[in-house]
Amino acid sequence: MEISLAKNKDLNGINDIYNYYISNTAYTFDINQRTIEEKKEWFHQFKNSETSICLVGYKNDELVGFVCSTKFREKEAYNQSLETSVYINEKFKGKGFGKKLMFELITRLKSTNIKNLYALITYPNKTSINLHKTLNFTKVGTLNNVGYKFKKYWSVHIYELKL
Ligand SMILES: CC(C)(COP(=O)(O)OP(=O)(O)OC[C@H]1O[C@@H](n2cnc3c(N)ncnc32)[C@H](O)[C@@H]1OP(=O)(O)O)[C@@H](O)C(=O)NCCC(=O)NCCS
Repeated sequence: MEISLAKNKDLNGINDIYNYYISNTAYTFDINQRTIEEKKEWFHQFKNSETSICLVGYKNDELVGFVCSTKFREKEAYNQSLETSVYINEKFKGKGFGKKLMFELITRLKSTNIKNLYALITYPNKTSINLHKTLNFTKVGTLNNVGYKFKKYWSVHIYELKL
């Protein structure tokens, strides 16, 4: 898999992968599919930022998945902390690509001033929990029944990695 910084040309593919998980899972708490215009707006956060990073992985010209680091919270004292998220095209899951993309993101962030990474994982999501544990994230808390999607409440487990 070839990993690189995401560019405008990758946005359709990123949106297709993400919209699949919006419609079919509670792994993201977005409920309505994103339009490409909304995705272009979302993509601005990665321009001119050393720490908000979006990486894509390709195999034989097909988008395998993407991984992003984004602001954890708006208030300035959180600036050394980021949230990470990773989504792999359904057909490429379980082949080590999620781990490779996350590893590359973590490696890049290690050379910045970032101290903490947080992954907010809807429970249950065994694969994502295993992925984060294998990357040395540890569970630091639970938000109980914090999200409502598909007519039920979902808890979120918070995983932390100290850089
Ligand atoms: C979660 C996700 C990103 C993981 O990426 P992936 O490429 O499928 O996972 P990998 O093949 O890199 O495996 C990562 C770890 O999870 C484990 N794993 C993989 N598939 C698994 C499965 N079906 N069940 C349980 N564990 C699994 C692997 O054993 C591996 O651990 P190891 O390195 O110790 O062996 C991917 O499955 C995905 O996009 N899922 C849907 C969206 C999602 O949940 N995103 C995360 C939101 S928090």
